[in-house]
Amino acid sequence: MDGRTVIYQIYPKSFQDSTGDGIGDIRGIIDRIPYLAELGPDMVWFSPFFVSPQRDNGYDVADYRAIDPVMGTMVDVEELIAGLAAHGIGVMFDMVFNHTSTAHEWFQRALDGDPIYRDYYIIRPSAPDGGPPTNWESKFGGSAWAPFGDTGEWYLHLFDITQADLDWRNPRVRQEMADIVNFWLDKGVRGFRFDVINLIGKKEELLSSAPGVDPRVMYTDGEDVHPYLQELRRASFGRVPGTVTVGEMSSTSIERCVAYSNPANGELDMVFNFHHLKVDYPGGEKWALKPYDSADLKRVLNEWAEGMQVGGGWNALFLNNHDQPRAVGRFGDAGELRVEAATMLATLTHTQRGTPFIYQGEEIGMTDPEYTSLADYIDVEAHNAYHSLLDAGLAPADAFTVVLARARDNGRTPVQWDDSPTAGFTTGVPWLRPTNQERINVASELADGRIFRHYQHLIALRRAHPAIAAGSYEAWDREHPAVYAFLRTHPEERVLVVCNLTFNPQRLTLPPEFVDGTVLSDNHPGTKLTPTLPLQPYQALVIAEGAHQS
Ligand code: GLC
Repeated sequence: MDGRTVIYQIYPKSFQDSTGDGIGDIRGIIDRIPYLAELGPDMVWFSPFFVSPQRDNGYDVADYRAIDPVMGTMVDVEELIAGLAAHGIGVMFDMVFNHTSTAHEWFQRALDGDPIYRDYYIIRPSAPDGGPPTNWESKFGGSAWAPFGDTGEWYLHLFDITQADLDWRNPRVRQEMADIVNFWLDKGVRGFRFDVINLIGKKEELLSSAPGVDPRVMYTDGEDVHPYLQELRRASFGRVPGTVTVGEMSSTSIERCVAYSNPANGELDMVFNFHHLKVDYPGGEKWALKPYDSADLKRVLNEWAEGMQVGGGWNALFLNNHDQPRAVGRFGDAGELRVEAATMLATLTHTQRGTPFIYQGEEIGMTDPEYTSLADYIDVEAHNAYHSLLDAGLAPADAFTVVLARARDNGRTPVQWDDSPTAGFTTGVPWLRPTNQERINVASELADGRIFRHYQHLIALRRAHPAIAAGSYEAWDREHPAVYAFLRTHPEERVLVVCNLTFNPQRLTLPPEFVDGTVLSDNHPGTKLTPTLPLQPYQALVIAEGAHQS
């Protein structure tokens, strides 16, 4: 993996609407290519815009080779690819290969009794008690099994009931997946993000977990994920030099992620893991609240950076995506110190060992929306969770407080282009309501903001500094509870990164050789380096050893 690469994520539904229907589309993205070029990533990852009933906003694919008419046409997509290529920006598509929509022709044929397509899915008889085959739970709530037509059997859906899991043990399924990747390679797509790909290794015999054991261990990171990925690589993206691949890994381990991303194994270039985004989940529970402690985030970041380095793996670096609340408020401050927090979190992400991802709106410091009722939220997961919390005995106001902190829609509100009532996103009614565009929007950020410029600078730094792109990683002052600092070392140079993770001033003892170093980046300009460096709230510095020029 070329360590200089930086990738930008677009959630098409929320980026830019060009038709006035309130839903983002591909022509809207094409209109914003100059903005993307100004920011300067190497590649743009698009969340899916394939034909879909949109139960899970396109992660329920009904046709992997056709564009959803709500989003545009194949001609639009070809223009998008060419338009970005003209600026040297590649495209990454989102391959949702663990499951299809139940509206997909394969599932419909399976339901009609076609034995070939029945074998594409995971269908099992009832358990001896007549209930679902195992105790597995859908990640969106409820059982992971639903009746398969009127056959008396059940099909597996680890996500929504309309997202039926594919059976990767079937060689035909694996061939279909390679053919889809090849189809998009032929169209010039050079990046692939594989959705929840560590869930494809399900065994023939599916078993309930023992009482008290999380059922997820029964199907996550199955041994067969490795040969399946190796085969997919050989049959598709591995044949084209320069492709970039990233796998989304659900509830995974460092050991497995090393195996998925170590080049010697011939699988993927890098992995997304979510352990650092669970530091505010009490006991691993998403739909419950716990105050965020910066020491926990620092510990997990160090653990993964070091573990992946030792094993020769490669991390995708991110704090935001379309499934997460906005990091600026979650790990920083959405109010008075928003700019400082946003730039500190950006520095932290862009200087670690791995490949940084920027999620749309992050580059202007977008925050969670200020919603006041459940009706503001649309996501199926949020509604299911709210009702489960009520069932568990929470008062409606308390259940809503949890949803407000955790809902995926927090990261899905439209990009705020200007301060108008629809934030410049649409001329119609936005599908999800923006709330603070008067304060936070692209127009004012480009006019006199500091966050967008900071991202541009971080992208340039990674390109210019081999220590950031490819250096080794070493924690500095590991025990400091509030300051996250690390060294990146390359034969040509050494760089120290210092991030005050907190709202309070802090101090850090610098490695002596950095006291007369060169400041490459500082979100509180004018800092004079001293052996025991005072740090402003959310201050973040990148310092090169010695007095050389940046
Ligand atoms: C991934 C996607 C998420 C989707 C899920 C099921 O986690 O990022 O948005 O709901 O997979 O496809």
